[in-house]
Amino acid sequence: MTSAPTQGFDRDRDEFTRGARAIVVLPDQGGANRDNDARLAETAGLAEAIGVEVVDRVALRVRQPRAATLIGSGQVQGLATIVQQNEATLVVVDAALSPIQQRNLETGVGAKVIDRTGLILEIFGERAATAEGRLQVELAHLDYQAGRLVRSWTHLERQRGGFGFLGGPGETQIEADRRLIRDRMAKLRRELDQVTRTRGLHRDRRQRAPWPVIALVGYTNAGKSTLFNRLTGADVMAEDLLFATLDPTLRQLSLPGLEKAILSDTVGFVSDLPTQLVAAFKATLEEVVSADLLVHVRDVAHPDSEAQRTDVEAVLAEIGVSETTLRMEAWNKLDLLEPDRHDALVAEAGRRDDVVALSALTGEGVNVLMEAVALRLTSAHRQYRITLAAGDGAGAAWLHAHGEVLGQEATDDRVAYDVRLAKRDHERFLQRGDPERVLNR
Ligand code: GTP
Repeated sequence: MTSAPTQGFDRDRDEFTRGARAIVVLPDQGGANRDNDARLAETAGLAEAIGVEVVDRVALRVRQPRAATLIGSGQVQGLATIVQQNEATLVVVDAALSPIQQRNLETGVGAKVIDRTGLILEIFGERAATAEGRLQVELAHLDYQAGRLVRSWTHLERQRGGFGFLGGPGETQIEADRRLIRDRMAKLRRELDQVTRTRGLHRDRRQRAPWPVIALVGYTNAGKSTLFNRLTGADVMAEDLLFATLDPTLRQLSLPGLEKAILSDTVGFVSDLPTQLVAAFKATLEEVVSADLLVHVRDVAHPDSEAQRTDVEAVLAEIGVSETTLRMEAWNKLDLLEPDRHDALVAEAGRRDDVVALSALTGEGVNVLMEAVALRLTSAHRQYRITLAAGDGAGAAWLHAHGEVLGQEATDDRVAYDVRLAKRDHERFLQRGDPERVLNR
């Protein structure tokens, strides 16, 4: 392992954020197919996840985005008044701001300003649990900060690394800070390389294990951790905190008809994922990319459920999940629905084999999900004809253990097996590369 790769996380951000009174602002630029209130609630949730007290929420219609401030000058003034009235010290703007816009807004409203990217980076920084996740997030944060080097980087002079951009000691030595950032980024990249190599070794080892991997994916707060706990009996932190999980958590699972499967709980997705974070996301989501089956957990009680679905699908494509990966949807939070809608969704899910309606909280439908998952994994099995040397007892035992042997035909020194196998197992068998074995479809 690398030496203390996470010391940069010794940060003194808390004094600036914990308990800070914040106004959440949604610049509504039209076109977004989303409910403003739900979006404000999501952003307020994100802000609360870093310990901020949200005292007001404002949606502002932006017809013509301004280069200097994004929102109009009258709106800036209005916001300044709201800030004053609420004695707020922080304004969270739910948009990506340029460094100039951020600075001008801070002057205009008389409070610190943080944008959506900065907010998500803060949360990722707090939640990243593995060395690699932390390194990736710190790297993303430094990258983001490098463009905003107008304050706060005296942290680096004290060798404390990233974060703390909600407040900072001043604008001294920007050039020296830039160099320190570059050096630190180079160091992080080296550490990352090493961590990634180590993890690659672990993963290879696990991938040779003959069990299918099921990954839970979904929009933040959809209920992945709750479902994960329900399915595995594990005690993973499930809370109404966005991004409660950043790194995948793996557990063994028994499913009907399958000896063993591995279930992986992953970070929640959000819309407008900062580009700086895609690499961090990829690092934490490799389990997803290589999974045999994705279960997309959806909060069907959320007004933006459909838009969230689109966002999740987009991120899956972005991180390189193949279109051929098996997928299912778990329509979660049934218990929150009106009886009519509840029944309609249950009926629709009943007609489809790629959807299960359930409530991770009450347990309704969870057994149906387990059966559906097992069925989907096993129906991905195909029939193969595999010919082994007559004395290849180990090979024959492997086929019996991993597949369903439908018939066999012996000739002089060979036995041909007709066997139903998961495609993945078939590939594994091929990879064993024993020249004695004759394999054909
Ligand atoms: P992230 O870690 O942010 O990605 O969230 P997650 O998808 O893991 O969600 P989590 O399991 O933490 O649940 C989020 C909130 O929704 C918690 O308050 C859960 O108690 C609640 N929740 C999860 N499933 C259900 C459900 O079926 N019904 C209801 N009513 N609430 C649920």
